Amino acid sequence: MKGLILAGGKGTRLYPLTYTRAKQLIPVANEPVLFRVIRAIRDAGIKEIGIVIGDTGAEIRDAVGDGSLWGVDITFIVQEFPAGLAHAVKISEEFLGNDRFVMFLGDNVIQGGVSSLIEQFAKSQWDSQIVLTKVPDPQHFGVAELHSDGSIKQLIEKPNNPPSDLALVGIYMFDNSIINAVNSIEPSARGELEITDAIQWLVTNGHAVHPYVHTGWWIDTGKPLDMLTANGHVLDEIEHEISVDSGIDDQSEIGRSVTIQDGAKVINSTIRGPSIIGENTIIDNAYVGPYTSIYHDCIIRNSEIEHSIMLENSHISGVSTRIIDSMIGRNAIVGHTSKRPKALKMNLGDYSNFWIP
Ligand code: DAU
Repeated sequence: MKGLILAGGKGTRLYPLTYTRAKQLIPVANEPVLFRVIRAIRDAGIKEIGIVIGDTGAEIRDAVGDGSLWGVDITFIVQEFPAGLAHAVKISEEFLGNDRFVMFLGDNVIQGGVSSLIEQFAKSQWDSQIVLTKVPDPQHFGVAELHSDGSIKQLIEKPNNPPSDLALVGIYMFDNSIINAVNSIEPSARGELEITDAIQWLVTNGHAVHPYVHTGWWIDTGKPLDMLTANGHVLDEIEHEISVDSGIDDQSEIGRSVTIQDGAKVINSTIRGPSIIGENTIIDNAYVGPYTSIYHDCIIRNSEIEHSIMLENSHISGVSTRIIDSMIGRNAIVGHTSKRPKALKMNLGDYSNFWIP
């Protein structure tokens, strides 16, 4: 089997963070979502992985390299325009050859691994296996309607009146009959070649498509709140560890389920888990509350933060109000000034959000 990861697209719903960074590289629990996806596929025993890249391809190539970090071979497949998930399969035909493969959306985070699912498909006679899960807002996803015997009745992409609450999760398994399918369908109303339509084509043309219903958590990290939710789930799931190369002074209080990475320093501070403090980050006279990920080379001084993600090289200092539910990008500065006039001062990037109580 091979792996195909989709990491093209634009990520406009995650602006402003994705102005300058591929959304698949935003970290949850200090690991880019895309790296988690690569690990999940590698853990299923797959060595050959193709990654479809678009506008942010250079940054993704740079971060992923040749795959030796995970012991896999990576092939980058350039998609000139985000013309849809089925289009991404179409342009990957040469890489895929006649092999069965798992396709994973590079911005999806799912509980546990996918090894048993992939193994089950590899051994089966099915032409495809799809993963479904119940969601409260099916109109935002591909939706599956099943017959009473559990087989697929129909699949529709983002329907206005969803026939069920079962959404298609961004993990799909195919044999090479999907190539015929993606070459047979027409673009949807939003102008994309939809993978949902291609799978419907398989069903209509008598191919065996097996629906697996996933009952754990799953997050499509489309919007900032989704990132925070995914971050929380992953922080709950990982095994926490305090690096012997970190420094924690006697005045500090470290709760349970806290990870402190190499070179981090905690001075006169309280950290409550689940949370993670990145490499070479300094937490000084500060509070880091549950469900918070602070990436590498940050400084938090005389401030409090909780249920948030902070990206690398950013600083927070002297902020008297606790910061919560926030995503702070790279090289950002959130600070205090005693200079008059006593007013809020900001340099906000395009599409930024700033809430004042
Ligand atoms: O997350 C699950 C949903 O993913 C499914 O329920 C839907 O059926 C499926 O169409 C897809 O919907 P989204 O609208 O969320 O897809 P999005 O445009 O966010 O793209 C998903 C990933 O695929 C993302 O990492 C970018 C990448 N992509 C997307 C397009 C349109 C590509 O690599 N190429 C593309 O042309």
